[in-house]
Amino acid sequence: MKYSYQIKSLDEYKNAYKKSVEQPESFWAEIADNFLWLKKWDSVLEWNFKDPKVEWFKGAKLNITENCIDRHLKELGEKPAIIWEPNNPDERVRIVTYNRLHKRVCQVAQMLTNLGVKKGDRVCIYMGMVPELAYAILGCARIGAIHSVIFGGFSAQSIADRLNDANAQFIITCDGSYRGEKVIPLKDVIDDALVGNKTIKKVIVYTRTRTPVSMIKGRDVWWEDEMEYAEHQVEKNGIVQFPATSMDAEDPLFILYTSGSTGKPKGVVHTQAGYMVWTNYTFLNVFQYKPEQVYFCTADIGWITGHSYIVYGPLSAGATSLMFEGIPTWPDAGRFWEIVDKHKVNILYTAPTAIRSLMAHGLEHVNKHKLNSLEVLGSVGEPINEEAWQWYYKNIGKERCPIVDTWWQTENGGIMISTLAGVTPSKPSFATLPLPGVQPCLVDEHGNEILGNEVSGNLCIKFPWPGMIRTTYGDHERCRTTYFATYENMYFTGDGCLRDANGDYRITGRVDDVLNVSGHRIGTAEVENAINMHTGVVESAVVGFPHDIKGQGIYAYIIYEGKLTDEDQTRKDIMHTVSKLIGSIAKPDKIQFVKGLPKTRSGKIMRRILRKIAERETGNLGDTSALLDPSVVEDIKAGAIQ
Ligand code: WT7
Repeated sequence: MKYSYQIKSLDEYKNAYKKSVEQPESFWAEIADNFLWLKKWDSVLEWNFKDPKVEWFKGAKLNITENCIDRHLKELGEKPAIIWEPNNPDERVRIVTYNRLHKRVCQVAQMLTNLGVKKGDRVCIYMGMVPELAYAILGCARIGAIHSVIFGGFSAQSIADRLNDANAQFIITCDGSYRGEKVIPLKDVIDDALVGNKTIKKVIVYTRTRTPVSMIKGRDVWWEDEMEYAEHQVEKNGIVQFPATSMDAEDPLFILYTSGSTGKPKGVVHTQAGYMVWTNYTFLNVFQYKPEQVYFCTADIGWITGHSYIVYGPLSAGATSLMFEGIPTWPDAGRFWEIVDKHKVNILYTAPTAIRSLMAHGLEHVNKHKLNSLEVLGSVGEPINEEAWQWYYKNIGKERCPIVDTWWQTENGGIMISTLAGVTPSKPSFATLPLPGVQPCLVDEHGNEILGNEVSGNLCIKFPWPGMIRTTYGDHERCRTTYFATYENMYFTGDGCLRDANGDYRITGRVDDVLNVSGHRIGTAEVENAINMHTGVVESAVVGFPHDIKGQGIYAYIIYEGKLTDEDQTRKDIMHTVSKLIGSIAKPDKIQFVKGLPKTRSGKIMRRILRKIAERETGNLGDTSALLDPSVVEDIKAGAIQ
């Protein structure tokens, strides 16, 4: 593969950026020319942010899996596409070449077709981090089925809600998945999600842990059996074939649910062509991937980072993508570094929460490993604090590797603001500069753009980029009100941001009621809804507080009318309810039972006060004169959980 559009110097970046703003259509047309199209586009971009309507490469036909696999086969057929490192370091590594990936994806496409899956159908995927998860995603894409991956940490109720919202008819899952010492019984969770469900036609079960599973006749089938059958169909005289479905540029590729400030997660929809171009372009430029390198993104494919930077971005670039099944701290806190040495990883992309947790385990786990293959380090998911940045730079990168702090969101499809490794300068705790094609702006609360440098405001994007959200599944109006209605003619990110004297961007965190816990996005309203479902709970308010490892922790204030004979037991019960309704990732770290919540006369909870108390900044609570009953604040302060 030739990476002719890889930016190689600061000047080249400046030129590319300028062109992307002044002539966006010819800029993106030139880049898109490097892909495999079944038919070229009629127009590069049509858009308005009012509806919103965004169409990239309209009229073009393509299949993203031909771009991620088939087009590499001649030159890179025997190159590892995926290196799979299992949870248990003693288990065999699996190396999946592009040829092998091609075969497996053709088989999955055939299997899904055999089971009745058609273009446009929604297929829910709930699996651990096994190569079969990548095959499943790409198999869907090959036949134009819309995949919707659900992270393994979500509960049966969350899955049921998502299945319902997406109106899905097919599920691909595993019997179980390994995470450190634990086995997570995935199929059991699916079974719970399916109690009473009448729309799911088939559940395909891949065997990973040999956990006993219930298999319902007519509905549940084994992956292995179906794949074996499909193998005979796709392979004739040693030639593997399964024709890729021709897709329109703007056909949906996948749905991925994410939390916002309302109680109900929304299905972010990404489409075929723009998403492909965007993930490929950002992957190659941010990480400066070179053909022989091994690239390791530690994210889970259940989140957007895994979609864009384990699967689509790297594979469309013909890269070798390392996929890790386990967790950073098992068998010990040196697991990442062991993997880096074992596979001679050149590019490592991880999250601040992982860095902070490994930092806390001490340098002895780092210093046992050489780490001399590393060339580029990446960070994603939340602001990286200076201390973690320096630790990462010094102890992992040995002051030799540039760090790219990549700011972006599920809705963005790919990286928006980031250093380009070794090409543009990096600065601790700054995402730095926008990628070509990204036009950030800061606005004040009235929606006026704040010009100049050394300013801060709410971060918006003024112009469409190819990887942006197209709609929220089944509810376009929700997409409009969430992202395009706060400020006229702009996409609103929900993040606060400052631009320094140099013009570099620093993301300061969410300005809405969305928490970022260990890099996972959780809406406070969602957690409150779950808590309020618990018997005896009258009302609750959830805020974030600074947490050394997780970035943010969850603090819940709860008015409870039931008998509180054993507070700790009730806390545990409430946490259990949240685990059941959302998943263990949303469990509050702290629960304080209160008699009342600080409310204005109009009944609005003053979260600012609750946040301050949770942050233990009780000295200055600001103006409390608008409160209906200021005495509740004193009570809450007195009972605050340390
Ligand atoms: C939110 C998006 C995009 C992949 C993972 C998270 C925060 C993300 C950074 C960063 C500061 C960051 C923002 C954003 N965020 N990356 N490098 N610096 N903040 O995806 O779940 O859609 O969350 O994560 O607050 O809005 P997500």
